[in-house]
Amino acid sequence: METLFFNSTHLHITTWVIAIILFFIALGKYSTGTHMALRLFYILVIATGVLLFVRHHSMDDMLYGMKMLAGLVTIGLMEMALVRKKKGKETSMMLIAAVLLLIVTLYLGFRLPMGFNFFA
Ligand code: HEM
Repeated sequence: METLFFNSTHLHITTWVIAIILFFIALGKYSTGTHMALRLFYILVIATGVLLFVRHHSMDDMLYGMKMLAGLVTIGLMEMALVRKKKGKETSMMLIAAVLLLIVTLYLGFRLPMGFNFFA
């Protein structure tokens, strides 16, 4: 359990992959059920991210703080895009911002020391 929650990125990766899939399903064909499931996954992404953060961040590495912030902003923008979709408003700007922040978050995550290090 200790290893699964604090010392491996597997759980965190699983939760954000599912969240991204649910996001695009809800964006394609909005339903409150999919949106609710996605909100549950936001919580799981944040919870698994915070557990990794508390154990592994270091005061001299600002990238950890930026990674956490980028992840939170990504989730915020995904939610704002979906709420606009639900209300029948224009979503393109919010969607572009969400995808940009997602790319920044993926870059920072894969740069930081745990798990995969594609950009280190
Ligand atoms: C849509 C939201 C998010 C995405 C797409 C995302 C993506 C990623 C990726 C790609 C990694 C690297 C995994 C690996 O190398 O094995 C990662 C690791 C991590 N994430 Fe997230 N994340 C998100 C949200 C969050 C949030 C909200 C937090 C904190 C509250 C967070 C904290 C962390 C931490 C601390 C790590 C470990 C960094 C390391 O040492 O490699 N993430 N995330």
